[in-house]
Amino acid sequence: MNEKFIYIKSYGCQMNVYDSNRIKDLFLDKGYKITKDITKANLTVLNTCHIREKAVEKVYSDIGRIKKIKNNNKKMKLVVAGCVAQAEGKEIKKRSPVVDYVVGPQSYHKLVDMIDNKENQISSDFLQNEKFKNLIFKSSKLSSEFISIQEGCDKFCSFCVVPYTRGPEFSRPIEDILNETKNYVDSGIKEIILLGQNVNAYHGVGLDGKSKDLSYLIDKISEIYEIKRIRYMTSHPIDMQDTLISCHSRNNKLMPFLHLPIQSGSDNILKKMNRKHTVENYLTIVDKIRSVRPDIALSSDFIVGFPDETDKDFEKTMNFIDKVKFVIAYSFIYSPRPGTPAQHKDNIDINIKKARLTALQSLLTEQQVNYNKSFLNKELEILFEKNGRYKNQFIGRTIYNQSAFATSNDNILNKILKVKVKHTTNYALECQI
Ligand code: SAH
Ligand code: SF4
Ligand code: F3S
Repeated sequence: MNEKFIYIKSYGCQMNVYDSNRIKDLFLDKGYKITKDITKANLTVLNTCHIREKAVEKVYSDIGRIKKIKNNNKKMKLVVAGCVAQAEGKEIKKRSPVVDYVVGPQSYHKLVDMIDNKENQISSDFLQNEKFKNLIFKSSKLSSEFISIQEGCDKFCSFCVVPYTRGPEFSRPIEDILNETKNYVDSGIKEIILLGQNVNAYHGVGLDGKSKDLSYLIDKISEIYEIKRIRYMTSHPIDMQDTLISCHSRNNKLMPFLHLPIQSGSDNILKKMNRKHTVENYLTIVDKIRSVRPDIALSSDFIVGFPDETDKDFEKTMNFIDKVKFVIAYSFIYSPRPGTPAQHKDNIDINIKKARLTALQSLLTEQQVNYNKSFLNKELEILFEKNGRYKNQFIGRTIYNQSAFATSNDNILNKILKVKVKHTTNYALECQI
């Protein structure tokens, strides 16, 4: 038998997960089978992330391990895809000759041809339009699917590689997104998570040829009966329009959760980050959205130790978190990135960075724990998405995006059920049906 196997590993954000699914679909269509055993693979794809130095180090250490596997499996080809591929291009092959193909996030639709023809072993053009036209969309999940609706970024925050790795902002047409959604509906999907590096900057062309915003798209998707839940991420404060805010009050399929990164609670630092918004702008959005949807769950991203961040700046970030109260948030130590404006300004001692991160994370964890505790003995709706580790255990998400689990003798997969919260941990809710 001449079976061919593909092994894919995804690093970084959800947009990479989506891209990995598309790469999988392209090769499934060519008769490949998915394997979780890399030693069996004819094709290994690393879909990489360039956001922080550690993410890149992980890729190179994996390449080192794969080199040994490849020595025992001469038929294997190694592909580096994603944001490291875009950022480093042919440097990757120079540094690691074991890599056969390098393909960026906006040209991976060419991968099948590249491998068939064994030529043009690097592709890093920004071909968003062409790419989406050549992809295949099959559902790989049971209840919830990602759809990339917007890609790239024109904001150029001074710390960030995304505008360079993903290219300029691009929005897919409404019709394409609705067709993709219907594909997933046919296989039983109930929740759609709309993805974009700046998802609320979405401005895709509608059926009437005019540009439409994110709230329009959400309303359109919610007209599909089988879709019960809609989420979107990641949003930028300067694109948080009133139409989207009011969508949260009017559209009951739009889940009450907003991931809105601020990065710092100090205007001084926000300015140096080139974020284009102030703390007050952010607080105004919070007030507006809470006035139409008081139970909205807020989430954010923070960077500590950005160049020139003083104790006072950091204190402002802590006060800001204290004031807003987040249900979850992600925080990172500033990592200087090649080619970004802030690259050579890294001037905060690593021990100070670490201390700030610890303080910030302990405040965020405290808020998350308190938030989860506030649901004790309350009723909530959960979409059960997968089996848990234990017998008869099922795992799902609340409308506020908390992870939750429950046991049931019946198969409750892909069902939305009302449950009672019995116990809470830092990261999940234990519920009873
Ligand atoms: N588009 C989103 C997020 C993109 S990257 C936005 O506008 O916020 C995800 C998160 O990684 C960012 O929100 C930021 O907190 C973090 N990040 C990006 N570049 C970083 C860097 N150089 N060092 C540390 N964290 C970084
Ligand atoms: Fe990066 Fe800023 Fe664009 Fe977000 S908005 S992707 S942080 S440059
Ligand atoms: Fe990483 Fe690229 Fe996403 S750098 S966070 S994989 S857009």
